[in-house]
Amino acid sequence: MSKNTEILSCIECHQNYSIDEIRYNCQCGGLLSVERSARIKDLLSLDTLEQRLLSREPHDVSGVWAFREVVRDIDPKNIVTHPEGRTHLYHRPSLAKYAGIDGVWFKHEGENPTGSFKDRGMTVAVTQAKYLGMRHVGCASTGNTSASLASYAAQAGLNAIVFIPQGKVATGKLAQSVGYGAKTVAIRGDFDTAMQLVREAARELGIYLVNSVNPFRIEGQKTIIFEMLLQRNFEAPDWIVVPAGNLGNTSAFGKALKEAYEAGWIKKIPRIASVQASGANPFYLSYKDQFTTKPKVVAETIATAIRIGDPVNFAKGIHAITYTGGVVTEVTDQQIMLAKRAIDQSGIGAEPASAATLAGVKQLKDRGVIKSTDQVVCILTGHMLKDPEAVLSASNMKVIDIAPNLNAVKEILNS
Ligand code: F0G
Repeated sequence: MSKNTEILSCIECHQNYSIDEIRYNCQCGGLLSVERSARIKDLLSLDTLEQRLLSREPHDVSGVWAFREVVRDIDPKNIVTHPEGRTHLYHRPSLAKYAGIDGVWFKHEGENPTGSFKDRGMTVAVTQAKYLGMRHVGCASTGNTSASLASYAAQAGLNAIVFIPQGKVATGKLAQSVGYGAKTVAIRGDFDTAMQLVREAARELGIYLVNSVNPFRIEGQKTIIFEMLLQRNFEAPDWIVVPAGNLGNTSAFGKALKEAYEAGWIKKIPRIASVQASGANPFYLSYKDQFTTKPKVVAETIATAIRIGDPVNFAKGIHAITYTGGVVTEVTDQQIMLAKRAIDQSGIGAEPASAATLAGVKQLKDRGVIKSTDQVVCILTGHMLKDPEAVLSASNMKVIDIAPNLNAVKEILNS
């Protein structure tokens, strides 16, 4: 018998619900969080984690399910895993120079099976959908959640429907969603409109909602932090920098750091820096008001992944920034694209939203918030191939046409 009972708990009024309930919000309207009766440090030892690194079982190979006792404690035979996670942590001198910080690292979540961090949350949400006996699963998406859902639903044999803002999803993501076989619905409206529609559809039509308002998504995304800490031998960095849209990651990172600290895995709590695009900056505006306001904006940015004006995890995001003594900042599209070029040309590559991290680090360093001697981990959230247009439409990034002769080649070589 398991000594660990998992419940859904409201972050506002602390009302509890069974994890067998299909529920995303408390009756008071507050967001729900997965909590457990046992303490993290009694559930999962670092020795067990080390042993799992040597295992060949899919649920041990997965960088999410290796932490299963503190993610979703479920019989491994009921887990829907690709597997996912186990992404790399990179250091590149050119990017350290760009940021003006020697100790800047990049954890590339674009190395997940569908090319973004979403797979970490999706494996848990789709496992939960199966556990609940749901047939239909759905989400609103700027493209990556839908790609991930489409893949995991196909694996699980579930019917997926995804709602995307028409004309505002990058090609790679769109192809994935359609290709994996999800019903892909383009909404005449933005992500926030699609989000409202899918919430209604979930309520009325028996669709299991797997946006990050689903607390099981957050549990899976915590493992970005757990895995990064493991890769650093539990030497906590000073900062963790993340692009912020719907605030799922910001929320998950705050929860992960609290749990890791309380388990004694780390001796200090890194500060989270959430970075928004200046055209999609409601969380930044709220931060500037000491979180006394909750603005909505009509979002516009080249980083379409974070083109969100009314984030669903606002309250959890505030907890994460407050708990870690973190900051929220905004960067322009131009700063994002310059940082993206630096990341691409370092050989790592990432989609535009991911590059908001490096742009944010550079700016926070220039403002004296981050010190040049700090240890900083940036989370690159999506793969470069997600958004090929973002590379090819840049004026100085073109394919060179030449006549098929050596003189022309010579000219190019020396140019
Ligand atoms: N980076 C990428 C590449 C994303 O796809 C997203 C969100 C974010 C950052 C923001 O993360 O929402 O946790 O603050 N994409 C969602 C989607 C909204 O539908 O794919 P967040």
